[in-house]
Amino acid sequence: MRGIKILGAGTYMPDTVASNDWFSTILDTNDEWIYTRTGIRERRISTDKPNWYMASEASKAALADSGIDPSEIDLVLAATCSPDYFYPALSCIVQQQTGAVNAAAFDINSACTGFINALDTASRFLQDSDYRNILIVASERLAPHCDYTDRTASILFGDGAGAAVVTRSDKPMWSYLSAKGDFFNALYCKVDQSRANCPLLEPDALPEGIIDTEAKTHTLQMNGKAVYKFAVDAMETAVNKVLEKSGLTTGDIDLYIPHQANARIIESAVKGLKLPPEKVYVNLEKHGNTSSACIPTCLAELKADGRIKDGMTICLVGFGAGLTSGAIVFGQ
Ligand code: UT7
Repeated sequence: MRGIKILGAGTYMPDTVASNDWFSTILDTNDEWIYTRTGIRERRISTDKPNWYMASEASKAALADSGIDPSEIDLVLAATCSPDYFYPALSCIVQQQTGAVNAAAFDINSACTGFINALDTASRFLQDSDYRNILIVASERLAPHCDYTDRTASILFGDGAGAAVVTRSDKPMWSYLSAKGDFFNALYCKVDQSRANCPLLEPDALPEGIIDTEAKTHTLQMNGKAVYKFAVDAMETAVNKVLEKSGLTTGDIDLYIPHQANARIIESAVKGLKLPPEKVYVNLEKHGNTSSACIPTCLAELKADGRIKDGMTICLVGFGAGLTSGAIVFGQ
């Protein structure tokens, strides 16, 4: 039996608030357009703290909430698509910062679906008797990678981190994970290789025709309409597939936590799946889309409010660059 229980959750949000009104001072946009098209009012920007700092603070908060000593963590999994370093893995820095001295550590990058893939991975490690407690952190500092001259994409994203400490549970869990690589160029960020000085290198080592070689490096490129269309369908499919595996119905789920990309995407999926809106948690008005950090940030907020209770059946569902998607149902 594969099951997980959330022992603790935590979040870190940077202090600086970037409101819709602030965007209207730098771009041809306004609060009304952004709010009605996305549901977002404001998001946080990490003006001075690196990703590893946010990840470590959220992890410390999750550890404190769990009551687990950092030395009892067997594995640190970090989900990020905006690391400070190619290597070492973000999880290794978090391991050092939190004092999880006995833990193995590695990262997972599936963009906004990162926490779902990390939780699924954790549940499989927990089936092995060597692993009892796993720290999962999802942390994103997207501001350095957004183009603040692009009003369609930059207004969506925020920085932040969320973390959870999980252990093995007797209650079952099910997952459905998917990737549609055919759409990999709908949302991407190209690595800056301009400083390369190997005399043998071609000017651009990426194969022509695979991706737009003219795109700005280190800058998020998005086909908003294509991602939107994918997202609604992917969320509905992921929830239906995971429920099918579990033998449960939508009514058996106590709480749905979707990826927080756009309120209209969530509303369409909720309508398509005929979910009761009061069971669907949405916090994007204040945080925007923090990519992989969205779902664990929701978990931390709900746990702090006492809204995650033992005995509940919870469904997490997400999608992101790749294009990836997935859903997990677990009994807390
Ligand atoms: O984690 C996954 C991350 N990505 C996503 O989830 C993105 C999914 N896509 C979306 O959320 C939506 O497609 C957007 C919010 C990005 C865009 O909303 P839309 O309703 O699809 O707008 P649109 O791209 O069709 O643009 C409609 C109009 C255009 O003007 P014209 O051509 O009709 O004159 C845009 O130039 O709105 C304009 N527009 C804006 N106007 C004011 C686009 N962005 C803005 C803006 N402020 N920020």
